[in-house]
Amino acid sequence: MKMHIIMAPIFLTFIFHFCFLVSAISFEKIQLPKNATGPEALAFQLVTSQFFTGVADGRILKYRGPSIGFLDFGFAAPNRSKSICDGTNNSNPNPVCGRPLGMALHHRTQRLYVCDAFFGFGVLDPEGGLVTQLSTSAEGEPYRFCNAVDVHQPTGNVYFTDASAVYDIREQEAAVSAQDSTGRLLKYGVKNKQVTVLFRNLSGAGGVAVDEQEKFALVSEFIANRTRKIWLQGQRPYRSEIVNSLVMPDNIKRTRLDNFWIAAARVMQSNLLPVGVRINGNGNVLETVNLERWYGNKPVSEVQEYGFKLYIGSRSEDFIGVIKH
Ligand SMILES: *[C@@H]1O[C@H](CO)[C@@H](O)[C@H](O)[C@H]1NC(C)=O
Ligand SMILES: *[C@@H]1O[C@H](CO)[C@@H](O)[C@H](O)[C@H]1NC(C)=O
Ligand SMILES: *[C@@H]1O[C@H](CO)[C@@H](O)[C@H](O)[C@H]1NC(C)=O
Ligand SMILES: *[C@@H]1O[C@H](CO)[C@@H](O)[C@H](O)[C@H]1NC(C)=O
Ligand SMILES: *[C@@H]1O[C@H](CO)[C@@H](O)[C@H](O)[C@H]1NC(C)=O
Repeated sequence: MKMHIIMAPIFLTFIFHFCFLVSAISFEKIQLPKNATGPEALAFQLVTSQFFTGVADGRILKYRGPSIGFLDFGFAAPNRSKSICDGTNNSNPNPVCGRPLGMALHHRTQRLYVCDAFFGFGVLDPEGGLVTQLSTSAEGEPYRFCNAVDVHQPTGNVYFTDASAVYDIREQEAAVSAQDSTGRLLKYGVKNKQVTVLFRNLSGAGGVAVDEQEKFALVSEFIANRTRKIWLQGQRPYRSEIVNSLVMPDNIKRTRLDNFWIAAARVMQSNLLPVGVRINGNGNVLETVNLERWYGNKPVSEVQEYGFKLYIGSRSEDFIGVIKH
């Protein structure tokens, strides 16, 4: 009898922890339309849970929820042909089809800013369609590999990266072996509609996120395995510091509480395994979520918090992962 009385709370504690652990790791897939692959980045609307993503065949899709699913929303390649492009995958990125990578929604205007690896930096109005190109070069140098975008919501200013001035998306492996460091951080000033180069010599400028106060941007350098904090104040060239050495860091997304999630990898017996890492504005690691259980050794390109869930993009998969968190 005594035994039971003592054991009951322990047992309940055990049940409680067990349920908690099980619920903490629940994983779901939002399947892309047939033959669509490689959702690299995600841009959410504020309240609706609807989001945009760009896929390998050049389409920008809008997710309208579980009953409607995905609809074609836009594209950046002016001569894109649905019959040639729809359903093609990233085994051979094709400039005729385009390749939308980074995207970010300005909530007040509902304008969707897009980085297309072939067609540079542009914007889509809420009705979608062909992306309006805003800029294909800055200070005389064309973008070779427009990669990631973030909007500072209060001002509407847009920050984006060009991963390399030399290598395009088809030459990514060459860029890595050459340890390229010609990536740039750029800013589109929404008032003067001008693009300025904020920072040069980045080694694989993958992701970018601006903080709530617009004091700094975090930029991932996937070739150099590091994250750089670039101060957006004072005289250019801006002051910067390397704030962590995460492996293969890709997109960075700010949370409501001014933390950031980075898609990256960890090295395990010479395998690279995908992780989501939450950091603060000083680059300190607050939390790591291992993703190999669902992604094996495939890289992930984005981890974004929305509501109480994490949404995961990958150039190597045909779904968006959702982790209850
Ligand atoms: C998907 O791809 C297969 C093989 O290329 C093709 O036969 C099929 O028509 C495609 N389906 C859709 C919905 O595009
Ligand atoms: C689109 O097609 C037109 C007409 O063939 C051509 O002049 C133009 O250069 C093409 N644009 C791109 C980006 O391929
Ligand atoms: C990409 O498409 C080609 C041709 O349809 C197909 O053979 C290949 O298996 C696909 N690769 C992936 C990773 O889906
Ligand atoms: C930085 O980039 C500029 C122009 O892109 C180049 O002229 C310069 O040599 C680079 N500096 C370093 C230290 O690599
Ligand atoms: C980045 O990390 C990967 C995995 O550990 C490694 O293979 C690569 O050499 C690193 N790159 C640099 C520039 O250190």
